[in-house]
Amino acid sequence: MGSFGNSCSGEKTQDDDAIIPLLTSYRMGHFLLSHRIVLAPLTRCRSYGHVPQPHAALYYSQRATYGGLLIAEATGVSDTAQGFPHAPGIWTHEQVEAWKPIVKAVHDKGSIFFVQIWHTGRVSHTAYQPGGRAPFSSTNKKANGKCLMPSGTEYDDYSQPRALETEEIPLVVNDFRLAARNAIAAGFDGVEIHGAHGYLLDQFMKDGVNDRTDQYGGSLENRCRFPLEVVEAIAAEIGPERVGIRLSPFGSHSDSPDSNPEALGVYMANALNKYNILYAHYIEPRVKTSMTTLETNESLASARKAFKGTFLVAGAHTRQSGIEVIESGGADLVAYGRLFLANPDLPRRFKLNAPLNKYARETFYIQDPVKGYTDYPFLDEGHDALVGKEQKKHVRCPFLEEDEQS
Ligand SMILES: Cc1cc2nc3c(=O)[nH]c(=O)nc-3n(C[C@H](O)[C@H](O)[C@H](O)COP(=O)(O)O)c2cc1C
Repeated sequence: MGSFGNSCSGEKTQDDDAIIPLLTSYRMGHFLLSHRIVLAPLTRCRSYGHVPQPHAALYYSQRATYGGLLIAEATGVSDTAQGFPHAPGIWTHEQVEAWKPIVKAVHDKGSIFFVQIWHTGRVSHTAYQPGGRAPFSSTNKKANGKCLMPSGTEYDDYSQPRALETEEIPLVVNDFRLAARNAIAAGFDGVEIHGAHGYLLDQFMKDGVNDRTDQYGGSLENRCRFPLEVVEAIAAEIGPERVGIRLSPFGSHSDSPDSNPEALGVYMANALNKYNILYAHYIEPRVKTSMTTLETNESLASARKAFKGTFLVAGAHTRQSGIEVIESGGADLVAYGRLFLANPDLPRRFKLNAPLNKYARETFYIQDPVKGYTDYPFLDEGHDALVGKEQKKHVRCPFLEEDEQS
């Protein structure tokens, strides 16, 4: 299984001198993190034929720092898992081998590297399914919304799903287990189970989607059974100290609302404690869908209080809000999506309070191996003069217009 990620124990890094809470060190299980700015999982659609490509080694290593934590993009657990063009997988030997040099490039920089593993369930299309079959879900109700098709440019309605038979569920649990095993074989330090954003596991948890009458539907306990079986199987396979999970109880991404998100978030936090997993990664309640961020009084405080392991948060965080959430004890770590996507040296920029590159939304999901992927400039490539003059001044993060949330 190999040794744990980095070896920053006892060594002084430049960040030890920093005072902002985001740049303080943190012990996450056996992993010693030198700062708390995490790369959020980001689907980038550049793994041709669902096989990770060499350009991903450059992309991830650009974002790697000594003792930093990166979470690789959502990666399919099986040939029925896909729903995005050229999203990577980890169910074949070829995919595992293709991940290895990417993981190595990140480890060579001293980062800790987890991979998010997913199944899209009904947030998919027959075009992604083997034999053009219907995608499966907790339900046979179609998700409202549009699917980005394999061409990478066209959209179509999500396909009509079929509800998984009760006896098929252990087979999908097993796919997750094998994917986690493969992740460790590829060299990853651990896996993040994708239980958020309206994908398969969320389709079971949310009462706005799950209409089952078997032991996987109805009560909160029943709706959370399948995701928890996945957690249990993976923890047994690779060790709970290498397992995280992402949850979005308050979100209704891809048509996945819940009538009592607070109860769902707390129920999962308590249930996860039984498996002693490494971290829980919650999406902030203000992030409702991939297109909307709303001010709200809802909060993750009760889930944070309930969960005993490391607590990550993500969703529309800026440098300032990240500082505040760490300072107030609302989270241990903050994951950044769009800001990290557009600023490969985000921890350094946060340290210097330097200006940020603006992300280009139109290149998020294109297949170009460079454009909008590895060509975002580092500070030294254009901003150094400015930073030299202005680093002591507060520079506001250029935040996101409502219609730019993804
Ligand atoms: C291009 C893009 C791809 C994304 N892909 C994933 C993904 O693979 N898995 C996931 O859980 N979230 C994904 N997200 C959501 C981000 O991880 C993050 O939670 C979201 O962008 C909000 O954080 P931010 O405001 O810091 O960007 C994606 C977001 C973007 C913009």
